[in-house]
Amino acid sequence: MTYAVRYYTKTGNTKRLAEAMAEELGVEAQPISVPVTEPVDALFLGNSYYAFSIDPEVRSFVASLDKDKVGKIVNFGSAAMLNSTYKKVKAEADRVGIAMDEREFHCKGEFKGLHKGRPNEEDLKAARAFAAQYK
Ligand SMILES: Cc1cc2nc3c(=O)[nH]c(=O)nc-3n(C[C@H](O)[C@H](O)[C@H](O)COP(=O)(O)O)c2cc1C
Repeated sequence: MTYAVRYYTKTGNTKRLAEAMAEELGVEAQPISVPVTEPVDALFLGNSYYAFSIDPEVRSFVASLDKDKVGKIVNFGSAAMLNSTYKKVKAEADRVGIAMDEREFHCKGEFKGLHKGRPNEEDLKAARAFAAQYK
């Protein structure tokens, strides 16, 4: 399997998850400003909820993907209240014809005093274990 890890972050939480997963997979975690140029079996895409939706930059990033280069998207992220961005990311992936892996990783993310310290060490460990399934 070949992998790439991309993330979008506003406060650093998704970057930390991305780095833990990327380390496990032996690749570098990069922001979505870095295009996916090499063909990959699985693109791990870290993103979060901001005001009940994913950031427009994440939508544009998915729209920019080449379906002949990305086998599938593996969604991961954290949020303070909501559970998963899966459906929102899938709606974009469907438009470009890229499959979404059924599995995803999600945990709580600190926001304005809620869930202090999350993702914490335990979350990062779980994120690594999640990524390890794909090796
Ligand atoms: C501007 C802003 C808006 C947010 N809106 C939501 C929201 O609507 N629902 C939710 O569950 N979390 C919300 N959050 C919490 C983030 O999803 C959570 O803090 C996440 O861990 C942030 O990831 P990041 O640090 O990678 O940006 C919001 C956070 C920010 C900064």
